[in-house]
Amino acid sequence: MPYRTIIEPFRIHSVEAIDLPDEQQRATALDRVGFNLFGLHADEVIIDLLTDSGTGAMSSRQWAGMMVGDESYAGSRSFYRFESTVKDITGFREVIPTHQGRAAEKILFTVMVDSGDVVPNNTHFDTTRANVEYQGAEARDLVTEEAADPAVILPFKGNMDTAALRRTLDELGPDRVPLVMVTVTNNSGGGQPVSMANLRAVRGICDEYGVPLFLDACRFAENAWFIRLREDGYADATPREIAREMFSLADGCTMSAKKDGMANIGGFLALNDPELALQCRNLLILTEGFPTYGGLAGYDLEAVAQGLEEVLDEHYLHYRIRSTAYLAEKVSRAGVPIVQPPGGHAVYLDAAALLPHIPPHEYPAQSLAVELYGNGGIRGVEIGSVMFGRPGAPGEPDEPAPMELVRLAIPRRTYTQSHIDYVAEVVIDVAAQSGTLAGYRIVEQAPWLRHFTARFEPI
Ligand SMILES: Cc1ncc(COP(=O)(O)O)c(C=O)c1O
Repeated sequence: MPYRTIIEPFRIHSVEAIDLPDEQQRATALDRVGFNLFGLHADEVIIDLLTDSGTGAMSSRQWAGMMVGDESYAGSRSFYRFESTVKDITGFREVIPTHQGRAAEKILFTVMVDSGDVVPNNTHFDTTRANVEYQGAEARDLVTEEAADPAVILPFKGNMDTAALRRTLDELGPDRVPLVMVTVTNNSGGGQPVSMANLRAVRGICDEYGVPLFLDACRFAENAWFIRLREDGYADATPREIAREMFSLADGCTMSAKKDGMANIGGFLALNDPELALQCRNLLILTEGFPTYGGLAGYDLEAVAQGLEEVLDEHYLHYRIRSTAYLAEKVSRAGVPIVQPPGGHAVYLDAAALLPHIPPHEYPAQSLAVELYGNGGIRGVEIGSVMFGRPGAPGEPDEPAPMELVRLAIPRRTYTQSHIDYVAEVVIDVAAQSGTLAGYRIVEQAPWLRHFTARFEPI
């Protein structure tokens, strides 16, 4: 096309009204939920950027697929459509549906991971880390050192530090490392992509030590698009070809279909080893359901199968990655520090750089997230010391997380450019008043995944 404007490659078929709570209503809501944005009613939020997980708009073809969903308990036609789509895209021989990504993680780690083991990943997502730790194992993040500096612009800041992986395997021996995982794209590390070259190098090391490699494939299509844009040799490859090559380097994957499955619920575990698959299916029956539905309705399997096809559409991926970059460019041009370059599914505001007067144990990113809601009704999520800090000994401050970020995750095909312009305006306005923001203390917290339910008090 000769024109520069990148349009949404869809038109709106059905709309949902947004409530517009005023400032007083938002202040009351914050008080009620103990300044934890997870506690808000979604109707109290104007633009909801809490997550891109399960929050996207489905296409008319997905809805149509749901109408022909086969709800048979065993051997549902919808399962076979789902299975053949997943096999076709990933090349894995065994496909196990689950109700979402963490169910696939729970099953895989229960079967593969023992107490005292270590699971390396570029950066574990919170549920992945929690599921590894629940087995009594250590979840070790080995992302490339360059990822530690949010301001550095590099094409593949999600890459695994292969030297550190080798050191880990040398130090522990392969017996204590039941699998290596790589998260594509690296959600907790800023939504940054992983290069094919890095995946190939990790595969090589895994082969040397005889350790299987699994992808956390939630955003595999976005990762494939970044490879096409940024890695030599892929400019003419289709997203499907690139995705297939990524999967070919792994022994299996866990997947939340709530992201690049373009569905509101769903997930799967896919792998090659039939023995391992058998053990996983046995556990699946215990916790999720029969292996041809795995905790999902037949219509969900249809929605995911169709979504997996749509996510690999080049027009969609072009729009998706550009529209995230659009928000990033707008706020960063106005001087707001963000993780650079912008990731695929989200813009990450760098609260440590914006609020240097708030120390990590007073949760600068929590303060920024609360302010974005209070000022503009926007809900993002803290990805910093609330989510990943380690609670200190009584009377001692927390051990801080490596970064203090607020993630503004963009639901797929849901918000238009004017919604995003509004978000940029609020972010820029809050950043201009950053000197007036204060920290928070936690007054109530759960022993794990505390960010979901903790209550806070302003300091
Ligand atoms: C990288 C990554 N892994 C795993 C998960 C867990 O998926 P689910 O929320 O479907 O359990 C998520 C969800 O956000 C994720 O981003």
